[in-house]
Amino acid sequence: MQTTAIVAKFEELFKKEPLISRAPGRVNIIGEHTDYNDGFVLPASVDKEMVFAIALNGTDTVNAFALDLNEQDSFKLDSIVPTEGWINYIKGVVAETAKKGLEPQGFDVVFAGDVPLGAGMSSSAALECGLATGLNKLFNGDLSKLDIVLASQMSEHNYAGVKCGIMDQFASTYGQTNKVIKLDCRTKEYEYHTLDITGHKLVLCNTNVTHSLASSEYNTRREQCEAGVEVIKKKYPEIINLRDVTVEMMKEFEGEMDQVIYNRCSYVVEENDRLEKACEFMDKGDLVNLGKMIYGSHEGLSKKYEVSCPELDFLVEQTLDDDSVLGARMMGGGFGGCTINLVKEDAVDAFIDRMTKAYKDGMGKDMLAYVVVIGPGARTEEAVEA
Ligand code: GLA
Repeated sequence: MQTTAIVAKFEELFKKEPLISRAPGRVNIIGEHTDYNDGFVLPASVDKEMVFAIALNGTDTVNAFALDLNEQDSFKLDSIVPTEGWINYIKGVVAETAKKGLEPQGFDVVFAGDVPLGAGMSSSAALECGLATGLNKLFNGDLSKLDIVLASQMSEHNYAGVKCGIMDQFASTYGQTNKVIKLDCRTKEYEYHTLDITGHKLVLCNTNVTHSLASSEYNTRREQCEAGVEVIKKKYPEIINLRDVTVEMMKEFEGEMDQVIYNRCSYVVEENDRLEKACEFMDKGDLVNLGKMIYGSHEGLSKKYEVSCPELDFLVEQTLDDDSVLGARMMGGGFGGCTINLVKEDAVDAFIDRMTKAYKDGMGKDMLAYVVVIGPGARTEEAVEA
């Protein structure tokens, strides 16, 4: 992407040569809202990223320039407090990496990216992990990849106010070309699996809506899952959280707990189960059955977990009678953003045209489509000549 423009802006503003760091957004094949329940997820980093040009400035101040917005902001290292706006992400990463042992120093940074904002592709994780990776190098730190993930996640909790799980930051940092990551969010153990979709593409359909409910409802879902665990624990004291509950065990609680709490919990338990099956299908190259798991995920997210919205449901419904689509579902936190679609390659153009028209006709809104490719995770490099 626009690395040359970022370096040129950096050299114009700060008159020195920067270090480059970058981190991608992500897709998630299946396993939604399972991460903060200590379950499993199946994300992959994609070829859309946030790019940073950074250099030390020998002061106690951070000067940041958001190239996409053409806005500059600064803060002092000795008084980092959460505020509003994009600078909050920079502050969060500096403060949270410091808690992990990275000694902060003043620096200058210019950044930009092509991860669509509010699209459920984790632009914020890309921002956090790309900067954390860059600062680790710039400050000669020895943070591990997991430290970078955890510091980035905490900057989302403490500076953006969303009690997110670990998936997005993990995918952005650990991603590898052509691989999906099966991550156990409890132990942080992970396996790379090859997603062989030869003859197919992953197409994201962006609703172009972000409902304001997104962050408050996210935190509410977390609390509802915890409330369900408290009920389950009375009968099964060994249960730590929903990760430990089987589909059969869950059924015992139907009618035994508040219906909404039951729906939330049974969705999570079933989603972990679907993910296991999806991995088996994926490893066998059975894309048809993988697609069925993906549709099952959407059904649960929409009806039981209730984090979808009319626009997302509309886009998934449009694919149900389309033989070129093997699976479709909402992706990420929900209440807007993208659907992920597994589409036959030779039908991709027709699919995008048809969906764009249907969305305009049915919802009166413009849809955007991205054909994504699975690319590498966060990394640093020396600056290229501007
Ligand atoms: C957001 C969060 C993730 C995860 C997803 C839902 O993207 O940042 O941690 O919980 O929602 O799966």
